[in-house]
Amino acid sequence: MEVTITLALVGVLVGLLVYLSYRSMTRPANFPPGPRGIPIIGSLHLLKEYPERDMLKISKNYGNIFSLKTAAKNFVCVCGTDLNNEVLNHKDIANRKDNYAFFIVKGNEPEGITTRRYSKELILNREFMHSVLTDAQKIESNIDEIVEIEITNLMDKLEKMFKSCQPKYLSDVLMTLAIDTYLSVIFGRKTNKTVEEENKKDELLRNVLLLRTAFQDVFFKLPELISGLHKLWLPESTKKFISASEGIFRYGADRLEDHKNSWDSEKPRDMVDLYLNKMDEEKELQDPVFTKVNFQHLLFDILLGGLENTGNTAEFALLYLAAHPSVQSRLHKEIIQVLGRNGKMQYADIKRMDFTKATVCEILRFSSTAPVGVTRKAIRDVTICGYSIPKETTFLMNPWSSHTQDDKWNNPKEFDPENFLDRNGKFVRNNALMPFGGGLRSCVGASLAKRQLFVFLVKLIQKFHIKPETDDTKIDHEPIGGFVHSPKPQKLRLQLREIDY
Ligand code: HEM
Repeated sequence: MEVTITLALVGVLVGLLVYLSYRSMTRPANFPPGPRGIPIIGSLHLLKEYPERDMLKISKNYGNIFSLKTAAKNFVCVCGTDLNNEVLNHKDIANRKDNYAFFIVKGNEPEGITTRRYSKELILNREFMHSVLTDAQKIESNIDEIVEIEITNLMDKLEKMFKSCQPKYLSDVLMTLAIDTYLSVIFGRKTNKTVEEENKKDELLRNVLLLRTAFQDVFFKLPELISGLHKLWLPESTKKFISASEGIFRYGADRLEDHKNSWDSEKPRDMVDLYLNKMDEEKELQDPVFTKVNFQHLLFDILLGGLENTGNTAEFALLYLAAHPSVQSRLHKEIIQVLGRNGKMQYADIKRMDFTKATVCEILRFSSTAPVGVTRKAIRDVTICGYSIPKETTFLMNPWSSHTQDDKWNNPKEFDPENFLDRNGKFVRNNALMPFGGGLRSCVGASLAKRQLFVFLVKLIQKFHIKPETDDTKIDHEPIGGFVHSPKPQKLRLQLREIDY
């Protein structure tokens, strides 16, 4: 009897292994080609520390559209400007990939925006965020004012930090700028915070940073590669991710409750008040969209989507400027011409600041902080380049490959704002630049992020010379790899410009 059971179990196991091997090696009919990979494991593991570079290497053998596999899933990868734009703007490739860690923290039907299915509820949330982040008149202190105030505060902080003229790491202070701006937009600007409020904000920042470190851990991705593994075992980084997410959700729920006590629908002060207005409009509905859970998920999405990218981009900007004093001089000249010395920037001035606009775009191109974008999934069967791609297939894009494509840029390999200028020094757009994705799932924070980077650059250059740790130190442009690019820690010196006057 025992022998029979053992034989049956071995049989099931062998059958399962044969099935998984078969699944990991075969593709649907008329599917994009790709490397054969290893039985059971598949080929997704070929994307390592720099997935965008590995994708480009594979594309040399299989073309700009190819596929990778795990035992359970097929992935379609695209490289180059045209295909990235086609996939990003395809109306039927507008879902997100299921990620085990997000499912654990948000449940099987995530709310908010980033991991939500494409649906009427998603559109309403995107419209809401868009109106909060772009419609400057709606709240007490408008977005432009908040950006201006937070960046001015940062400049004061930097001035104090560099009084001693010692080189310093800047990543924490830039991350604090990003979080202060977003918290002011979401929860309002409050200058005299209590100690308890400050502590809660610090805890929030710690939790957001914990999410960041989880993504950098190689084990975090393991349950993605082996289907079902997360039900048996979780890496330490995933456990931290879960507890940090819970902390962020708690913070969101508490702040929503606080706001209810002083909310006046006629005088919205911030995003939470606008959200409470939405909740009020829907109070008779059986199935409202703007619920407490939705708010918690939305807060999580903004902090995760916004913080990492904005903090990293600002830090890359400093490194590139430190490595290119000639770009600093040209920026300074344009700023003095348009704004005068220490002049305050009006948004109409942006039109006359071609070199500064070109530098902002070049920072976004050269840093490519989201080198492979954010994965998408087909809502229904689609045809791309004549290949038949079934519903539910995950797409990995490669904006970095477009940002470095030889025939799209004058000087693709270097940091060079001339990439966005014509012969007359006028700013020119380039459709090969896609740091914020595109189409139905494009980044909702893009206009805020660009505005923030522009003001940051202007104020920084008005005030400081940015220099490497020593005059002989060579800046390392190479990013730390992963699905998000972050700069390698490097000390910088900021010297007050007044010294030259
Ligand atoms: C330099 C800064 C930023 C970069 C490079 C960036 C990049 C991206 C990218 C590549 C996507 C995926 C777009 C797509 O699939 O087409 C995205 C989505 C998103 N971003 Fe950003 N982002 C930045 C700043 C922000 C900010 C400031 C916020 C919020 C305040 C934000 C919130 C979001 C959200 C909620 C999504 C999900 C959109 C959806 O799924 O429908 N991001 N971002």
